[in-house]
Amino acid sequence: MIHEELEAAINEQINQELTASYNYLGMSTYFDVENLDGFANWMMMQSDEEKVHAMRLLQYLQDRGGKVVLNTIPSPETGYSNPLQVFKKALDTEIENTRSINKLYELALKLNDHATKSHLQWFLDEQVEEEKSIEDIIALLDRIGDDSAGLLYLNDKLGSRKAEAEA
Ligand code: FEO
Repeated sequence: MIHEELEAAINEQINQELTASYNYLGMSTYFDVENLDGFANWMMMQSDEEKVHAMRLLQYLQDRGGKVVLNTIPSPETGYSNPLQVFKKALDTEIENTRSINKLYELALKLNDHATKSHLQWFLDEQVEEEKSIEDIIALLDRIGDDSAGLLYLNDKLGSRKAEAEA
């Protein structure tokens, strides 16, 4: 049976992952309206990944005899000024997520819950990847500036992102 403090913290993390999923879905709709299908695809894949993260935690909590509590998820933002603004918001989301995974890990450490520590290791590694991939896109968008040919090149590139199971 999992400690109740960890149960509450994992439930919070499930909500955070689902919120991220919903926010990325909102970003995907923004790109779709802007006719940037590749960007929209990338954000849709990102949204799907966050849902998978939530499900990993949900399944783990259930396996440990915890009770899953599904809290409210606010409506996502869909109005942005440009792709750079969207990806900066995405980076903020990931930085915040890294912070909360770290906090969760520290709680598991404090409570000597080795199984939870082990489960969270995957998330720690994943956060490094997620922050890096978004930082790379921000760096490209910075270089592209107002160059529409560059933007369309990146749009093509991001359109090739596949779901994790397919990749
Ligand atoms: Fe589930 Fe992007 O962290």
